[in-house]
Amino acid sequence: MTPTGNSPKILVTGGAGFIGSHTVVSLVEAGFEPVIVDDFSNSERSVLDGLRTILGRDVTCYTANCNDSAAMEAIFQKEAVIGVIHFAAYKAVGESVRLPLKYYRNNLDSLILLLELMPKYGVHNLVFSSSCTVYGQPEQLPVTEATPRLPAQSPYGNTKAISEDIIRDTVQSQAPIKALALRYFNPIGAHPSAALGELPLGVPANLVPFITQTAAGIRSSLTVYGNDYNTPDGTCIRDYIHVVDLAEAHVQALRKLNEQNTDSSYDVINIGTGRGETVLNIIKTFEQETGVNLNYTIGPRRPGDVEQVYADVTKANRDLNWTARRSLAESLRDAWRWQQKISLK
Ligand code: WQD
Repeated sequence: MTPTGNSPKILVTGGAGFIGSHTVVSLVEAGFEPVIVDDFSNSERSVLDGLRTILGRDVTCYTANCNDSAAMEAIFQKEAVIGVIHFAAYKAVGESVRLPLKYYRNNLDSLILLLELMPKYGVHNLVFSSSCTVYGQPEQLPVTEATPRLPAQSPYGNTKAISEDIIRDTVQSQAPIKALALRYFNPIGAHPSAALGELPLGVPANLVPFITQTAAGIRSSLTVYGNDYNTPDGTCIRDYIHVVDLAEAHVQALRKLNEQNTDSSYDVINIGTGRGETVLNIIKTFEQETGVNLNYTIGPRRPGDVEQVYADVTKANRDLNWTARRSLAESLRDAWRWQQKISLK
């Protein structure tokens, strides 16, 4: 897809990351021109090769830390973007407990810098990467955007809640910013081309990459963290959404902001499938779809895990004209295809 000279430019911070890179593809497919900013502290430059494979051309990428005010200002001066999608953040829950100041400094300062630079350069549209972790263990399910946020279970989760409040308060101060905070549920899968996917940087904390690495023989066995929860099969329930569905939701969010003829606005929107799946069902579906028998054992609960959380996606369907289209089976097939691809390297 060759860029037309007047494709609207979108700054994508963390654009070489798992969700960011898939969103870059969806942006180009929707006629936008992404401008990536990434310091590659939690991603690899090979992602740019994957993007070139899918898109048939290079995407502008600045290697910079989003906390580097001089670098970020220079990018705003050079690139006439019409919006920002802010993915760049540290996101390892466990590490955030060990190193809270690293998370508060990095995740909050980078957002504050963006909110200072955007009005200065006439950039009004912001889509922010938030997380269902702000809900904790909801009293009622499925969880809606009106469900009260609960105290975060980790400094990582707290940076997401605080970031939402920073954006809300900035908008309420009449800053000329229109913002949507998208609360992701559990992103899984990979681009169907297997040119992009979730990079295995260290031992996976998340379920699906651990499943695919176990199936690939990289891990000897998967531990299911607890089967004594109050759920149909005793294992936790989550809302697993294909990363390409999630990417497409960002394009719809940008379009929504573009259409708004107001100077300032802020809202939050759940981005999930609306379906809850247990851990054992993820395993069973993976085995059915791939023909691989997974070696797993039942272990103790993981501290901090909520029992079940899944989304009410009525608002996303209505406000963004968006619905997750890909099935769990497709997500797991795509995740496995990606794992097989990178295991061959
Ligand atoms: C899912 C389920 C585990 C690994 C986290 C973050 C959240 C978001 C998504 C960034 C749980 C179980 C897992 C394993 C297991 N990240 N599990 N064995 O914890 O729902 O959400 O990632 O925004 O903010 O908190 O995802 O994939 O880690 O766990 O049994 O080896 O799988 O107990 O029930 P989680 P997860």
